[in-house]
Amino acid sequence: MDAFIAGMPKCELHVHLEGTLEPELKFALAARNGIALPFATAGELRATYDFHDLPSFLAIYYDGMRVLRKEPDFYDLTWAYLAKAHSQNVRYSEMFFDPQAHTARGVSFDTVIRGIRRAQMDAENRLGIRSQLIMCFLRDWSAEFAMATLLESLPYKEWIIGVGLDSDEKNNPPLKFREVFQRAREEGYLLTMHCDVDQDDTTAHIRQCIEDIGVSRLDHGVNTLDDPTLIAMVAERKLGLTICPVSNAYVTGDSKARQIKRFLDLGIRATVNSDDPAYFGGYMTENLLCTQREADLTRDEVTQLMRNAFESTWLPRAAKDRFL
Ligand code: HPA
Ligand code: ZN
Repeated sequence: MDAFIAGMPKCELHVHLEGTLEPELKFALAARNGIALPFATAGELRATYDFHDLPSFLAIYYDGMRVLRKEPDFYDLTWAYLAKAHSQNVRYSEMFFDPQAHTARGVSFDTVIRGIRRAQMDAENRLGIRSQLIMCFLRDWSAEFAMATLLESLPYKEWIIGVGLDSDEKNNPPLKFREVFQRAREEGYLLTMHCDVDQDDTTAHIRQCIEDIGVSRLDHGVNTLDDPTLIAMVAERKLGLTICPVSNAYVTGDSKARQIKRFLDLGIRATVNSDDPAYFGGYMTENLLCTQREADLTRDEVTQLMRNAFESTWLPRAAKDRFL
């Protein structure tokens, strides 16, 4: 089974590029940019990665981004992730980035996206791994800042397939960003949002995502299972759920592997993803292995997870079919 999972062609739909910043690269970028880190070694830094919930993770995640300053930094970050994904036979990835976490520090949108884009092109040409970019808004910042970021992205629209919503969910419901997502839709972006696991009001947020925002995917969304009417809506609309078991284990103490199996039994498009692999310590293969072991999945069920992922991509039908 382990060899089967390691070798299978994979698709990833929920990974934050900034969450792929490994301690070793963090050190290299800090040195290159003349930034002092309060740790002597990458191992020492890694030892501080001690999270128990979403806010305690996010504090370390945002602090880590300080080393990303120039276009080559964003190139190196993206290249490292895509090369690692390629080594696990990931064929296609839709990757989040958080422009506001950089523009708020004085790094231009142009710098961020050009570095990422150049690495995407190199990875496709040299390694054969395809990828697309999803721009996330930070939900604990204002809707005005999100709208300004949306407008700032428009000259780069050809490089961005859709928009998402991440960061701290508490008291930051989907409806706070209704106008931003409406405008994003009018501009041709596809829509998704995080509904993190076991947060306050998660089921209300899932309902808003579906009924008010009109997302075509849900990031996490495990708590759909808490409400039969949500189960029916997700099933009927064939929404993909981008679930991240190793991340869940950190943030909630439970990988939710058994819930993933339940989604499969219900015929719902659950997928398995890595979220922030440099912080949680698991890329695609490790996330699939974790799910398979904890829910005792068969080969057919593991294969179904990957079929669900390719089916839930934001690729044209013909491109999906070439992967399936
Ligand atoms: N949840 C919410 N926001 C995030 C995450 C996450 O897992 N990772 C990066 N930003
Ligand atoms: Zn996420």
